[in-house]
Amino acid sequence: MSHLVIALDGPAASGKGTLARKLAKHFNLALLDTGALYRAVGWSVLNDGGDPTSEKDAVKAAKNMGNIDLSNRELRTESIGAAASKVASMPAVRQLLVDFQRTFADNPPKDKDGTILDGRDIGTVICPDAQVKIFITAEVETRAKRRFLEEFGPKGTDQQYLNILADLKARDERDMTRSTSPLKLAENAHLIDTTNSDIEAVFEATRKYVSSVA
Ligand code: DC
Repeated sequence: MSHLVIALDGPAASGKGTLARKLAKHFNLALLDTGALYRAVGWSVLNDGGDPTSEKDAVKAAKNMGNIDLSNRELRTESIGAAASKVASMPAVRQLLVDFQRTFADNPPKDKDGTILDGRDIGTVICPDAQVKIFITAEVETRAKRRFLEEFGPKGTDQQYLNILADLKARDERDMTRSTSPLKLAENAHLIDTTNSDIEAVFEATRKYVSSVA
């Protein structure tokens, strides 16, 4: 593979979406937010009145993925994140999305210098040969605070924060302990903890790291 592939993994609300966009722009890479694929499946199940823990409902939605608008803002909420995490624990659902992700990684458009995919299993399962692997994380309370501010703004209530914290903890547990493609540090991944850093500092450090290995 001659083009650059960056595999960026990490837990919910770790800042990987923002970092992925910045890296994509800087290194001229096509970006795939793979969480959006699972969110689309979760959203579709709920929209059809289905149950995200039902494999039948989830597989049906995953087969119709092509019809879902991945830029729909509704996909970004924590409740859709929870549904996404449930459908993502099913091997049959993951299998339906693997080819799409690998094809994306291997075929950057002509005007791009490579690809970047962010998710949970990019460095371990989807692109195990990626030249650059990054694992981004932060303490769960920090991630919950970021997600809470994103969703409810400064007027959000303590209860709303606590609900998000509980959801993120449940999501971490599900995403890290499922039997198929759990979230884990790939052997040769570069670890970044963003608990005490802002996104600009994280981007700058990561940009330097990528330039040094790519
Ligand atoms: O990154 P995110 O919060 O948008 O992801 C939503 C859920 O989708 C996440 O909790 C687990 C699942 N997911 C996954 O299992 N594998 C991926 N590569 C990306 C997301």
